[in-house]
Amino acid sequence: MNYNRLLVTAALPYANGPVHIGHLAGCYLPADIYTRYQRAQKRDIKFICGSDEHGVPITIRAMREGITPQDVVDKYNAIIRDSFAGMGISCDIYSRTSNPTHRETSQAFFKKLYDDGLFEERESEQYYDAEKDVFLADRYIIGTCPNCGNPNAYGDQCEKCGTSLSPEQLIEPRSALSNAKPVKRMTKHWYFPLNKYEDFLKEWIVEGKKDEWKANVYGQCKSWLDSGLHPRAMTRDSNWGVPVPLPDAKGKVLYVWFDAPIGYISATKELTPQWADYWCKEDTKLVHFIGKDNIVFHCIIFPAMLKAHGGYVLPDNVPANEFLNIEGEKVSTSRNWAVWVDEYIKDFPDQQDALRYVLCANAPENKDNDFTWKDFQDRVNNELSAVLGNFENRAFVLMHKLCKGRVPALHADVQNELDNALIEDIKAAKTKVETALEAYRFREALAEVIDLARKGNKYLQDNAPWTLAKTPELQVENQKRIDNCLHLCLQLNANLAILLNPFLPFTANKMCKKMKVVERMLEWENAGRIDLLKVNYPLLAPELLFRKIEDTEVEAQVQKLKDNLAKATSQKVEAPKTETQAAPVAEAKGVITYDDFAKIDLRAGTITKAEKVEKADKLLKLEVDMGTEVRTIVSGIAMHFAPEDIVGKQVTVVANLAPRKMRGIESNGMILMAQNADGKLIFVSPLETADNGSEVK
Ligand code: MF3
Ligand code: ZN
Repeated sequence: MNYNRLLVTAALPYANGPVHIGHLAGCYLPADIYTRYQRAQKRDIKFICGSDEHGVPITIRAMREGITPQDVVDKYNAIIRDSFAGMGISCDIYSRTSNPTHRETSQAFFKKLYDDGLFEERESEQYYDAEKDVFLADRYIIGTCPNCGNPNAYGDQCEKCGTSLSPEQLIEPRSALSNAKPVKRMTKHWYFPLNKYEDFLKEWIVEGKKDEWKANVYGQCKSWLDSGLHPRAMTRDSNWGVPVPLPDAKGKVLYVWFDAPIGYISATKELTPQWADYWCKEDTKLVHFIGKDNIVFHCIIFPAMLKAHGGYVLPDNVPANEFLNIEGEKVSTSRNWAVWVDEYIKDFPDQQDALRYVLCANAPENKDNDFTWKDFQDRVNNELSAVLGNFENRAFVLMHKLCKGRVPALHADVQNELDNALIEDIKAAKTKVETALEAYRFREALAEVIDLARKGNKYLQDNAPWTLAKTPELQVENQKRIDNCLHLCLQLNANLAILLNPFLPFTANKMCKKMKVVERMLEWENAGRIDLLKVNYPLLAPELLFRKIEDTEVEAQVQKLKDNLAKATSQKVEAPKTETQAAPVAEAKGVITYDDFAKIDLRAGTITKAEKVEKADKLLKLEVDMGTEVRTIVSGIAMHFAPEDIVGKQVTVVANLAPRKMRGIESNGMILMAQNADGKLIFVSPLETADNGSEVK
């Protein structure tokens, strides 16, 4: 497409919790990389983001915490905004959908569709919580999923199997607010006739975008379109949201998925008086960066709304990513299984680029991917540090040692094949990286940059300037070769700064400082040049660009995940979180006789082997030496202990528990544990070592 300006949006995060690294990898980091690259290309571009401050999750959170929805969004808007700023997400505006401009813009949008006679008014019976005096839509209502039997499915979606639902489909529905059984009540809503846009959408997407959009995005759209579109209610009964701008609509607000995407438009209005150029001129390229759970809203519903309104451009592309799992498990906010960005920033100050690197190198571009702390450490230490950091450092050290700390000349008379090949590599890298970036293939683009650094290392190795320096009889000739080698290494280094800048802006900035060049050097058109640093120019002393990530750091992070999970799962799921709430202690059990107790055969045993059970994150398979025999016991403690840490521990075993098969492994016994209120597990072990097999009475 030929265009003269770019408009980039990244999904407006719900201000009902902090953002985690899956959010970053899913859309904010790719949006930022794309924008930084386009800015370096000097294109006219605006990058829009902000908080999505309406919707049911926010009102529920407020009710649970006993605060107002405004308090909730104020708190999380600030946290999210700071997280993005801290990670270098460089949106031109980070707005909020609770702003007055947004209220006016989304109301005017609704009013236009209303005045055009587009909406269908429908009265229908809907679930109502008589105790709390509210209608129950979307997540206000919980029940059993008709598809998978999950007892905690929401009125709009089952999070377990992913099916999208309507409240009527839930089996045994209950109110998310009071747990009460809901009653039916009449209410009126305004429906957007999505079905009328089916033909337009089919032509636009199925015919127009098949080869342009990512397969995962196109596929989801196609299956929605194939199964037929239906009118959708664009209003809700609630007191939190943008009020429906009609006289007979008291207590009604715009559906959050109606107002939120309009938030992109309102934010652009706040950013610039030229906002209409970006939204209404045909030669704008609009790109929505989102996660895969947002595809239908950005590819089907919002475009249909824009089309119905008229006068707006439609997205050229919607490069949605899949999900990032953590240590082999799906992210879960209720179980607190996530790596929170604000906490990462606190735990790893000044390591933004380390995370940006790993999240881009391992981005879930075409399928769900896994983030593990071990992989984080490996990639930072073995790629970022050992390839890129190492090359930069060697070039600086050798230049100071062999070329008096100044950029040496390139002597044409000794320029050889190795030099020429490297010059070609530098030129080719620019094309490769930009081609991948224009096509939203961020992993590939970053891999090309690292590959160029790898070529630099090889070139240094092949030239071995340190050896050349050791033959004084050939000094004049050899110094020229040394000069050429380091001249090109330093020019390559300047190129790396340009190519890296969209991905690792903090690092690119540091590199500029060390080369004593202004940031203007980072403009994309400079990539491929080998005259970026002037001959004889003195550069700063070497200093490492990256530090290694230590074992202890990643171990602490894995432990933190496990602790968070234990804490979250030991608290009752629905319980409100209040500071004063007493820690839950297991209830005392009833009295038993001595004979009851004597039925249990308790014995001391020593764990001799421990290993993870495949595809069962909670289970460890243990071998326990019981003195006369070795028992296999499967224990649900994998979230609490690493296998290598418990081998050699003496424990107490329930030795006469009936055998039980878990994941195909027969477990013969049980290990005794004490559990703290925060969920932490402690082995019940003899204080001094007993003989294995001895009875515990
Ligand atoms: N708040 C939504 C989410 O986090 C995304 C909203 S994107 C917008 O899933 F288009 F509605 F703004
Ligand atoms: Zn389900």
